[in-house]
Amino acid sequence: MSRIADEKVLVLDFGSQYAQLIARRVRQQQVYCEIVRHDITAKRVSEIGPMGLILSGGPSSVYEDGAPKCDPDLFRLGLPVLGICYGMQLVCEALGGKVENTPAREYGRAQCRISVSNELLADVSSPTQVWMSHGDQVARVSDDFIPLAATETCRFAAVKHRKLPVYGLQFHPEVTHTPEGPKILGNFLAAACGCAGTWKLGDFARETIETVRRRVGRKLVICGLSGGVDSSVVAALLSQAVGEQLSCILVDNGLLRKGEVESVIEEFSNHFQTDLHVVRAEEKFLATLAGVIDPQEKRRRIGHAFIECFADEATRIEGAEFLAQGTLYPDVIESGGAVDGPAATIKLHHNVGGLPEDLEFELIEPLRDLFKDEVRRLGLQLGLPEEIVWRHPFPGPGLAVRCLGEVTRQRLDTLREADAVVVDEIKKAGLYRQTSQSFAVLLPIQSVGVMGDARTYEDVVAVRSVDSEDFMTADWSHLPYELLAQISTRIINEVPGVNRVVYDISSKPPATIEWE
Ligand code: XMP
Repeated sequence: MSRIADEKVLVLDFGSQYAQLIARRVRQQQVYCEIVRHDITAKRVSEIGPMGLILSGGPSSVYEDGAPKCDPDLFRLGLPVLGICYGMQLVCEALGGKVENTPAREYGRAQCRISVSNELLADVSSPTQVWMSHGDQVARVSDDFIPLAATETCRFAAVKHRKLPVYGLQFHPEVTHTPEGPKILGNFLAAACGCAGTWKLGDFARETIETVRRRVGRKLVICGLSGGVDSSVVAALLSQAVGEQLSCILVDNGLLRKGEVESVIEEFSNHFQTDLHVVRAEEKFLATLAGVIDPQEKRRRIGHAFIECFADEATRIEGAEFLAQGTLYPDVIESGGAVDGPAATIKLHHNVGGLPEDLEFELIEPLRDLFKDEVRRLGLQLGLPEEIVWRHPFPGPGLAVRCLGEVTRQRLDTLREADAVVVDEIKKAGLYRQTSQSFAVLLPIQSVGVMGDARTYEDVVAVRSVDSEDFMTADWSHLPYELLAQISTRIINEVPGVNRVVYDISSKPPATIEWE
């Protein structure tokens, strides 16, 4: 595990959908935090030397056969431990309590009353709103535990061990529905773990730049640019680290948003003195996509075409030995690539391929310890414009997976125009930062309309806008009707061939953010 912070806290992942959120919340308190697998040994934990441990929630029941457990020796290390939900049940069971499936399952908001003043809940109001999400709860605790707080249906909403620095919370302090959650986590970090909160992104940037500089020496580095925030931040870091030894490659696949290639070129030439190679490959991508309607097949072909273009251009940059990529911490965790991290679960992004191994570059992944919000802050610190830093995420296969059915230049142009209207109006309404992803989708059907006195039979555009913390779940944005009306009117008036606009009001799950 990298030595990128003096103070470190580990989150043991028991399969919670919130493990990453817990880690982010800890980092927001300026304490560096990593996610490790639930069965990490006490010996390994000692080697890493964290200031405290957080045991995440999880979908299992502690009394079931095969339920994930932690190494019991962990409790003998003398480290502060905070168990959350399943983590609390595990802690209480391991230290002599009893967990039961409660008749009153609790999902949602609850009022929590503090019964004993204590360091974990210091300065927290009573009652305080908390978010519950569990079927089981602790039915009995051993005499070693003091109950600290309760809700109407949960006697042990918060507990503390009498002798060990061990705490448990049945509710989720990491979600926004627990408004005083940050205070509770902060209390655990400061009062129980003794963390001073010294982790700063600025230090991270300086150290990363130094490390990259030492590793690269006088050699050359290639970096793929997509216009998105991750690759831009990588390029910014690399350019500060190795300056003219960096070459960037932008593949114009004809599937980008309106004006995007031009804006990346402009922003890049304005901000960096790096060598930028733009590969004009629209024809190649259109040819490979001709007649293809299956979404995964589109992704596969786009992946291959991208690799060909990139590799071809990369081999022209003589003597390059390193390839810099914008891999983020969630990608590392979800692909099972972290040294002590949990095994691979669901892959977040669906890109086929990746870059070919036979290019034989050494990889530089300077963002692999960071979450997206940290990457954005880092981008601002490195002087990238807000325009780039706050750009909504865009899928690798681009507009091809928003152009349902066959991908042709004409259909892409229609989609690009409609999409530009959506983004423009969302920005004008001041909602671009508030929404997580807003875009247009071109449907593969025509519908009847009437324009003037004539009957039309033209394309349908769906507008999609979602609010999301991590893109694993998302809610559709509750955009004002006036804004939706303006988007619809403008698309129908300004985009030839479209006579109907619909708004997608599905959340994820069960729908996904993209339509393909
Ligand atoms: P879904 O549609 O799965 O999207 O809810 C979740 C997030 O992933 C993005 N996405 C992709 N990103 N290649 C990518 O690089 C892809 O093939 C891909 N498909 C979806 C999507 O835009 C959203 O941010």
